[in-house]
Amino acid sequence: MSKVPRRTWLPFLDADIPANCDTPAKVAVHELALGCAALGVSTPRLAVAPDLGEYYMIDGDTIAGGEPGVLYGAYAYMMAKAAGEQPPSSLQKPFYPLRMLDSWDNADGSVERGYAGRSLWFEGGKLCWDGPRIRQLGRMLASVGVNVLCVNNVNVREDAALLIEDEGLPELRKLAAAFRPFGVRLMVSIEFSRPIAHGMPTADPLDEGVQRFWRKRADAVWAAIPDFAGFLVKADSEHRPGPFTYGRTHAEGANMLARAIAPHGGVLVWRAFVYNCMQDWRDTSTDRPKAAYETYAPLDGQFDDNVLLQVKNGPFDFQVREPVSPTLYAMPRTRLALEVQLAQEYTGQQIDIYAMPPMWRELAEALPPRTVSAVAAVSNLGRDDNYTGHPFAAVNLFGYGRFAWDPHADPEAVVRRWARLSYHLPKDREDALVDLLMHSREIYEKYTAPLGLGWMVNPHNHYGPNPSGYEYDLWGTYHKANRDAVGIDRTAAGTGYLLQYPEKLRAQYATPEACPDNLKLFFHRLRYDYRMADGRTLIQRIYDDHFEGCAGAERMGETLAALDLPEPDRTEALERMELQIKNAREWRDVVNTFFRRLSGAEDEKGRKIYD
Ligand code: GCU
Repeated sequence: MSKVPRRTWLPFLDADIPANCDTPAKVAVHELALGCAALGVSTPRLAVAPDLGEYYMIDGDTIAGGEPGVLYGAYAYMMAKAAGEQPPSSLQKPFYPLRMLDSWDNADGSVERGYAGRSLWFEGGKLCWDGPRIRQLGRMLASVGVNVLCVNNVNVREDAALLIEDEGLPELRKLAAAFRPFGVRLMVSIEFSRPIAHGMPTADPLDEGVQRFWRKRADAVWAAIPDFAGFLVKADSEHRPGPFTYGRTHAEGANMLARAIAPHGGVLVWRAFVYNCMQDWRDTSTDRPKAAYETYAPLDGQFDDNVLLQVKNGPFDFQVREPVSPTLYAMPRTRLALEVQLAQEYTGQQIDIYAMPPMWRELAEALPPRTVSAVAAVSNLGRDDNYTGHPFAAVNLFGYGRFAWDPHADPEAVVRRWARLSYHLPKDREDALVDLLMHSREIYEKYTAPLGLGWMVNPHNHYGPNPSGYEYDLWGTYHKANRDAVGIDRTAAGTGYLLQYPEKLRAQYATPEACPDNLKLFFHRLRYDYRMADGRTLIQRIYDDHFEGCAGAERMGETLAALDLPEPDRTEALERMELQIKNAREWRDVVNTFFRRLSGAEDEKGRKIYD
């Protein structure tokens, strides 16, 4: 593992951080000396004011702030200088106090939905890591203000359960110490039924023995790691154990754990990803997107103050496009965390380019940022040299940090900042790269799943087209295309999902005419001869989008080849681009052929669609 780590968007920091830099202020001093010399700019002095915590202010040649505020300020200063811009001059405060990164790393070193190599901190059932790589990662996280790292998969398997037990705590404590100087606190995913593995007859949250078990565990964890952030729980979801087994609600389950950790200041993050993953496709009374709201909205006001209910951005599962989850509007008396996915499970798997900042802007517009009190992102990191598989996937980690710090930040400015810091290209090529990234989602959406049609992916690995792959399966993810029509009616006349939204939003989606094109088939079942606002038929629009999306991917390939990026990023990006174009052609041809065979409709433009 020990190689000089890649510097990603911080190329001016080209030496390791000495191990004796064990506080954010000491790291800041080191980083400023190193970075300012490399950049040829004056080195500001630090004024540490502990009360300021994460806040900082850059005033002339002084960076004032708390810890880790001064470290954030140091990176902000150097990144601005490196980008040829002015550092911010007002007091800087993060919008969300908790800016979490959730790794889905397993103790055996594999990463669930990981597309950037094996885990950076697990192998062979244990925590183990490469110091320089972790310090480089700490630097990257601090430079964008991520402050909590959940180290293991929400699906807690085998040895990962030991992390918070006496066997695992000494190593976890060391990992916490490795990230602490960067202002990053650790969290772990725990298994709700763990008391049973210890010989107890039950994991019932109302059982006193169970409550004692968790209190004792929490005492041991916080004794080892006093600044430990908390626990993350996936319960009663995709076969994970949970309170339903005991006839208890999720508020009862979450509160029991929250009370065990409250004396230590811990936060209990409880995921709201609960649905029937054993649905019979013939059952039309169940509509999966309704599930989280049905489970949680009635519990609003019942969760303890140190519970964060973590809700995925859409009601399904990180599809290319989904409406905002109605659960996020429905629980004003609950602390909510918004969960997004940097790992590109359904969005190209870090082979296809898919820059997310424009998507988060849309999210922030649809969901006033104050509606939630924290954010979490499923990590896209792994042991690949460049950390993210595709070197451009780093823009999503960078952009997520910026979004969590300031959800109002302009996505194009964020993408440009990342591009400039990473590559320092001449202006015209920088513009081309920014443009490519800013349109990458739109292009991906067009060749894969336009109009709100999700789930046409290959089952299980979720890469590549398979229009009927999930159609007769257990997961509640159906499009029901037949020879006349496609999509699900989720209005009041259909499954009623629409009724979960506040009145104003309902109106936006209620009729096919009012509903934006990009969600039409999410909310409505439409005939292929339905006329879109621009006069095209639905089927023509499906064909056009797939042809245009694929042509867009081919154009991206040309742009990329002309960018003349530095190596090794150039080779890595070009290799992946070949695969992306192949993928886009496959999507275009498979989906268009699928719909032509069903509908019998010809493409008005006479392009090649297969028999
Ligand atoms: C998706 C993903 C799983 C993951 C789950 C979750 O279903 O495919 O791998 O475990 O989301 O968010 O818990």
